[in-house]
Amino acid sequence: MNLDELLHNENLSRDEIVYLLNLERREEISQLFQRADEVRKKFCGDEIHLRGVIEFSNYCSCNCLYCGLREDNFSIERFRMTADEIIGTAKLIYSHGIRTIVLQSGEDTIYDTDLISFIIYSIKKEFDIAITLSLGQRGFQEYQSWKYAGADRYLLKHETANEKLYEKYRDNLKLADRLNHLRYLKKLGYQVGSGNMIGMPLQTVEDIADDILFCKELDVDMAAICPFIPAPFTPYQNRKHGDALLTLKSMAAARIVLKDVHIPATTALDSIEEDGREQGLKGGANVIMPNFTPMPYRGKYTIYPGKRGIHDEPKAAFASLQKRVEALGRKISVSKGDSPKLTSE
Ligand code: 5AD
Ligand code: SF4
Repeated sequence: MNLDELLHNENLSRDEIVYLLNLERREEISQLFQRADEVRKKFCGDEIHLRGVIEFSNYCSCNCLYCGLREDNFSIERFRMTADEIIGTAKLIYSHGIRTIVLQSGEDTIYDTDLISFIIYSIKKEFDIAITLSLGQRGFQEYQSWKYAGADRYLLKHETANEKLYEKYRDNLKLADRLNHLRYLKKLGYQVGSGNMIGMPLQTVEDIADDILFCKELDVDMAAICPFIPAPFTPYQNRKHGDALLTLKSMAAARIVLKDVHIPATTALDSIEEDGREQGLKGGANVIMPNFTPMPYRGKYTIYPGKRGIHDEPKAAFASLQKRVEALGRKISVSKGDSPKLTSE
């Protein structure tokens, strides 16, 4: 089979995905990106969906080896935003014409079932906006309450589909539990996002192929694939960051395999690669997640160092992002950007 035929194969096998991830010749890599761009256009159209992110608490009770927010990292200054501050930021996001907000935090149960429900309800009551929760692994009852309160989507990355590596990276937590949570979220009717990191210690390209197939099996609505970036004061602080090209190839392969899903061009990719965002958007991605965390908290959500745009005021950072999208000749969506799986039904 030649490369063009392979790229048009509807059901790529693990070995075939590995083959794509291993492509080295420039022309072949461009062919991969072009095909991903075509598939994106066919299943998702030309619009770019924006998700305004509010990082409202950097407290976390987990100890993931790769993450700067891990509980044992005593070097960072922790913060929590009040409900009023969160709702005020949601209003700011809405005023920018963005119709999805992402409420993101470490696993922080101080924000209990009722407080999160209150925040969701208060936002949904006032603004016609979709809410994505990204609060880590929480209680099954909580997921249900938050769905009733009006949450639309849940983002819970599987991080790696390799069971052994998962346990290692996440300090003995179990991949099977993650999968149960993801399945339950789907059952409750959330649009579900998952995804993984590229370039983690000991990870192989076969693992990445499995990550993509894991997302397929789970029938996710969004797949977020970002490079690993070593964070200071973590066990992986001296490791190398993930390779930008391998990340882009993984996103492109994910687009070809998963087809009608949202794929973000991540801030992490943009932080390690000049024009990383643009390259992602040209190779299969269709979503950007601008950060609206307000001062003085902005810049304190240090999952990894060197986040691009983090020292700018949210407004200025957003304006520069808008310019970059327009320069690509793509349109910014004015809708909520629900899952392509829902809108095509
Ligand atoms: N580099 C890149 N992404 C990271 N995340 C956590 N730590 C890192 C890192 N060092 C991502 C994980 C997680 C989310 C909170 O941030 O994928 O899902
Ligand atoms: Fe906490 Fe998520 Fe970081 Fe793990 S990756 S330490 S769960 S914020």
